[in-house]
Amino acid sequence: MSTYLFILGKDPRLSLAELYAAYPDALFHEFEDAFVVMDTSNKLNQATFDRLGGVLKMGELSAQVEKSELSQALIEALLSDHQSGKLQYGVSVYGLPEGELKTLLIGLKKRLKSASISSRFANQNFKNLSVAQKKGLKGPEILICQSGTQYFIGKVTATQDIDAYSKRDYDKPFRSMKVGMLPPKLAQILVNLTGVEGAIWDPFCGGGVLVMEGLLSGRDMLGSDINTRTLEGAQRNVEWVRQEFNLSSQAELFEHDATHLVPQKKFEAIAFEGYLGVPQTRMGSEREIRPLISELDRLYIEFFHQLKIAQFKGSIVAALPFFRVRDRAEMGLTCINEIREMGFELESLLPQSRSLSLKYARADQLVGREVFRFKLNL
Ligand SMILES: C[S@@+](CC[C@H](N)C(=O)[O-])C[C@H]1O[C@@H](n2cnc3c(N)ncnc32)[C@H](O)[C@@H]1O
Repeated sequence: MSTYLFILGKDPRLSLAELYAAYPDALFHEFEDAFVVMDTSNKLNQATFDRLGGVLKMGELSAQVEKSELSQALIEALLSDHQSGKLQYGVSVYGLPEGELKTLLIGLKKRLKSASISSRFANQNFKNLSVAQKKGLKGPEILICQSGTQYFIGKVTATQDIDAYSKRDYDKPFRSMKVGMLPPKLAQILVNLTGVEGAIWDPFCGGGVLVMEGLLSGRDMLGSDINTRTLEGAQRNVEWVRQEFNLSSQAELFEHDATHLVPQKKFEAIAFEGYLGVPQTRMGSEREIRPLISELDRLYIEFFHQLKIAQFKGSIVAALPFFRVRDRAEMGLTCINEIREMGFELESLLPQSRSLSLKYARADQLVGREVFRFKLNL
């Protein structure tokens, strides 16, 4: 059994839900807004980490201590792999104020000096290391995560591969503002929330971001869309990602209206970012948004109706739109209750909580996404 520290991304609850789904047998024994401590018998490395969309850094736990033992534990973690020469390192703190870094770093430097070890820390202005700074670091980054009186210390073993994300986000051959662009990280989260390793179907695949991320995770994928031109773009993207990343996983893309009979193909789960309606260029009023919501409600009710007819029993992970409106804070789809009445249960995305959905939106976005996981209760 190994213990790992995960530093969560900007939507920590969604990141935690992803970890629960990706590691159903793991023991999650601490959770603060910024990090989680997880025990698992799986051996985790950069490759397994790259399949996750919601986490920034991962470290292996080296010590769990009280404040009085913190400084000694930090020295031990720093020196555990140090051979000789100047020690370069970084320290990042979570669950405690970043302002405490200054005292910690100066104290560490003094202790290293008195042990005749020449050292240099990479923290600029006594701030946490960014993922990009960690990349350029020729030495360890130590994580200090505080929960109550306990300090969890770990050495970073994997970080978010920002170059790989921007490559697949910006270098892919087909990009369309009109179709909308699902961030690859959210696509990974949706894929992982299905909890399956087998084939997944994206019935609203657009330019194919979710299909690409599923392929990268090693899963075979199915993608369909009502729009022929978009589907051609998705096909080009899929061919590109398979070639560029040398993938052996397979994708099948086909034209299909999601409100028609469910295709007779093999898949274990469904995951999608739904159709968001015509792109919004300005914040509408409640009266303006209502017809759009009715149109989308009809689409999703018909889609779920078809899944009911097909008696599809797998997980259905959906990122559905909600709208920021002028005269009210937010307006979501109203079809969720109707879908539940059809027999689709909403599964809680986080254990011991009633989180039946989790939101993903930037403060300036007119349209956000709300993530749900449904399962037909027969
Ligand atoms: C927001 S886009 C999905 C974007 C996609 N996740 C991506 O990153 O490229 C929604 C897609 O749903 C498709 N769509 C709309 N109505 C549909 C229907 N009835 N059946 C299938 N696809 C539909 C649109 O053509 C559009 O490509």
